[in-house]
Amino acid sequence: MHTTRFPIAATGATIPAIGMGTFGSDHIDHEVMAQAVRTALKIGYRNIDCASVYGNEKEIGAVLGASGIARNELWITSKVWNDSHGKANVIKSAKQSLIDLGLEYLDLYLVHWPVPNFHPPHCSVDSRSPDARPFILEEFMDTWAGMEALVKEGVVRHVGTSNMTEAKLKLVLPQCTVRPLFNEMELHPTFQQRDFVSYIKGEGIIPIGFSPLGSPNRPERDKTEEDLVDMEHPIVVQIAKRHNVHPATICLKWAHQNGIIPIPLSTKERNLQSNFEAIVSDPLTDEELLLLRDVESNNRLIKGQVFLWEGATGWQDLWDEDGIIAR
Ligand SMILES: NC(=O)c1ccc[n+]([C@@H]2O[C@H](COP(=O)([O-])OP(=O)(O)OC[C@H]3O[C@@H](n4cnc5c(N)ncnc54)[C@H](OP(=O)(O)O)[C@@H]3O)[C@@H](O)[C@H]2O)c1
Repeated sequence: MHTTRFPIAATGATIPAIGMGTFGSDHIDHEVMAQAVRTALKIGYRNIDCASVYGNEKEIGAVLGASGIARNELWITSKVWNDSHGKANVIKSAKQSLIDLGLEYLDLYLVHWPVPNFHPPHCSVDSRSPDARPFILEEFMDTWAGMEALVKEGVVRHVGTSNMTEAKLKLVLPQCTVRPLFNEMELHPTFQQRDFVSYIKGEGIIPIGFSPLGSPNRPERDKTEEDLVDMEHPIVVQIAKRHNVHPATICLKWAHQNGIIPIPLSTKERNLQSNFEAIVSDPLTDEELLLLRDVESNNRLIKGQVFLWEGATGWQDLWDEDGIIAR
């Protein structure tokens, strides 16, 4: 696979095959992020991954507006935050994102997490919202009804999920009148989620890979001593040496050649440039792709502890690894 845009069978639209992330992990100033988006657009990025909870949609909107780039060349994603679940709140939140981003429509709107549990910025790993609860299908479908209404109104072109699991999607998909066409999920060489990716592709859902470089600057609350570092993995480093590139480039080639749309974040022009170029030149060989399969280590980095509820046994409860939804 080697393309700069990715076809979406269900709608006939195309999505740029690499995007730019805009989550400042609680430490990047909104103006700094907006400046990075300005630089990214200059380089050629046309796919920007936003979210209301990142708190910087206004600043990014100002950059989009001043860019002079035709709206139909851009792909803008936003997400409804966990404190705005439920049909009416979803619609209200999308409209606020449209105002902040200065847009008449979103290319993609995602349910950021399948549970309505949220946390304050800069919180510790032990923080829990008092009314946090496990996944409840009826509640999720009410939230999804808001997503469907936005598509019917024409202010959102595609809808999708994020941080979903196969077990939850199996319950949700039969009840949708407008299907999710994307799932944004953690994907990098040490966390490949091959079975889940294969399942969603089979359902016509395109994987968007977040933290594609292994999120080295993720919030402190998301770091544990056991976490592996993708860009330091010996196989990734060895292949990077062969191609004479930074290991980041190998992580992005791996995503692209596995049918994943990566959305790396950078605030540095040099990194934005090399990340953008990663998917269009010097592809990995079949042998290198095989070698990279062995890098898989079930190394989930964004574990989501702060989204747990009273009575949950651990962060694994969010991910239904045994195929059973934790209650
Ligand atoms: N849906 C969700 O729940 C969810 C969760 C997490 C993330 N996301 C999205 O995914 C995006 C990306 O994930 P992420 O920000 O967690 O992590 P990431 O993209 O894996 O890593 C970003 C970090 O890597 C560094 N970096 C970027 N390019 C580099 C290069 N070429 N060489 C060396 N270092 C490089 C950046 O630092 P510099 O600025 O110094 O380059 C930045 O600190 C987010 O920004 C957000 O939009 C979504």
